[in-house]
Amino acid sequence: MPAADQETYERHSYDVVVIGAGGAGLRAAIAAHESGARTALICKSLLGKAHTVMAEGGIAAAMANLWPEDNWQVHFRDTMRGGKLLNHWRMAELHAKEAPDRVYELEQWGALFDRTPDGKISQRDFGGHRYARLAHVGDRTGLEMIRTLQQRAVSLGIDVFMELTVTELLKDGGKVSGAFGYWRESGRFVVFEAPAIVLATGGIGKSWRVTSNSWEYTGDGHALALRAGATLLNMEFVQFHPTGMVWPPAVRGLLVTESVRGDGGALLNSEGKRFMFDYIPEFFKAETADSPEEADRWYTDKRNRRPPDLLPRDEVARAINNEVKSGRGSPHGGVFLDIASRRSPEFIKKRLPSMYQQFMELAGVDITKEPMEIAPTCHYVMGGVEVDPDSQMSVVPGLFAAGEVAGGMHGANRLGGNSLSDLLVFGKRAGEHAAEYGAALAGGRPKVSTASAHDAAEIALAPFAHDQGHDNPYSVHQELQAVMQDLVGIIRTEHELRLALDRLVELRAKAAAVAVEGNRQYNPGWHLALDLRNMLVVSESVARAALERQESRGGHTRDDFPMSDPYWATQNVVVELKEGTVSVRRQPLPQPPAELAKLLEEEAH
Ligand code: FUM
Repeated sequence: MPAADQETYERHSYDVVVIGAGGAGLRAAIAAHESGARTALICKSLLGKAHTVMAEGGIAAAMANLWPEDNWQVHFRDTMRGGKLLNHWRMAELHAKEAPDRVYELEQWGALFDRTPDGKISQRDFGGHRYARLAHVGDRTGLEMIRTLQQRAVSLGIDVFMELTVTELLKDGGKVSGAFGYWRESGRFVVFEAPAIVLATGGIGKSWRVTSNSWEYTGDGHALALRAGATLLNMEFVQFHPTGMVWPPAVRGLLVTESVRGDGGALLNSEGKRFMFDYIPEFFKAETADSPEEADRWYTDKRNRRPPDLLPRDEVARAINNEVKSGRGSPHGGVFLDIASRRSPEFIKKRLPSMYQQFMELAGVDITKEPMEIAPTCHYVMGGVEVDPDSQMSVVPGLFAAGEVAGGMHGANRLGGNSLSDLLVFGKRAGEHAAEYGAALAGGRPKVSTASAHDAAEIALAPFAHDQGHDNPYSVHQELQAVMQDLVGIIRTEHELRLALDRLVELRAKAAAVAVEGNRQYNPGWHLALDLRNMLVVSESVARAALERQESRGGHTRDDFPMSDPYWATQNVVVELKEGTVSVRRQPLPQPPAELAKLLEEEAH
């Protein structure tokens, strides 16, 4: 195998390079292309295979198709309250205002939404949303979104690089100048020269043992951004979706869409009790039903209060966790989700076809006849690259981020359905602004130096040079997942977080020495060794930020600081790399202007 400095790299030159081809990446690439930029779209796996498809239930947008009372102001308010007011207000405002147009645009591009009887796009209920506002395609909305965006991107002739992993961002004098990566099949290196890069790499779930994320979600974009000098916001906020499958073991963590509860499903413990009525927090008391009768009336009349099964995800996940710990769980360590006794088989098969099929085929459970067994699963990270809310540019000139990899939009907890609208709204903005930024540089494009490419190649090849006999990447990955699952999970303590950080130091040393066998042609062990570098720096960022925030809020629960603290309501935790070391600091949260602050004070009823 040639040494890094003897290899000639495949080179490409573009105006905008988008890394990640889920919903945010596709939407950004379309926007950049339509703005006149020569655009490349890079995906780690095959085009169309993205975590976006795991947002099954719908796209949140205040289109008022079912409830004329709905509008962007209510959506803004729900999003901010769901995020425990830690969202960047400007992102939440842009999101609520622009989401409906992005949905109609998707329809014009061919998305086939379910309809209301009078022919409008149908909208369904989800946790934390005052009105039924999720535009949906059965329980396969993310899939339909990806299909539509993919078709649009391909028909526009955007260059797509599939099965290519980016390992490093390249810079020239502080500005982004390109990206370095390798073809997964051949192991050959590739250099992209581009003045503007959009990160749209999604999440970090693969560092936990139980997750809805698949193998691609190793925090690549978060790690690339950190190493390039960008800052990450609020990494302590990790979302455990309340409902993942628990049985059989091979499918543990697979998502069970919130649509089951949105369409009337109820959570039960082993005693058959609707236990969520015991877990209504003060913050949501005014808008949550306190009897099953009132809860059930809400589905048809929003003057009633919302069922507690549809509280925001952080609340529901914690409640399930507590029921299981208190000995009221299901046989395989979850609780029950019952729609069989609450809706007809025809309704279930029509509204939830994927769930019906998923449980029938993978667990032998007929959800029209029996309840599902479910438990929380690591699903989403609210923390991400700190960006300008309007342009999505990070603190590094030329580096943009959109979708899950970007921070700020969802605060301490994301409402279901807000991810699909987020990636449409901010994918478009990131693509447009990246194109504009690149064009404004005109002749002054930053350059990719041969030395920076060689450095990146050397780092990538290091695992081949290590002595065999060291740990292999698979065992280190398993250890990492155990640390994050057991010590940086739904409930945290200072003691456990410090233990996790000690273990992460050991794992970082092990990962830096892992040896891989074979050569560069399709070598999954090598790929994982490179992914581990990202997973470890991101996991450390989560653990350090979690230690820093001494309160409980949204997707961050500290057993030793069980209450939310007004001081922390005003603080972001910022993570950055200082001489290769993860460091955290506090930074005041931007406060909304008076007219938006007023919306947040208004009671729901
Ligand atoms: O439950 C779901 O369908 C997931 C949606 C989301 O994460 O937005």
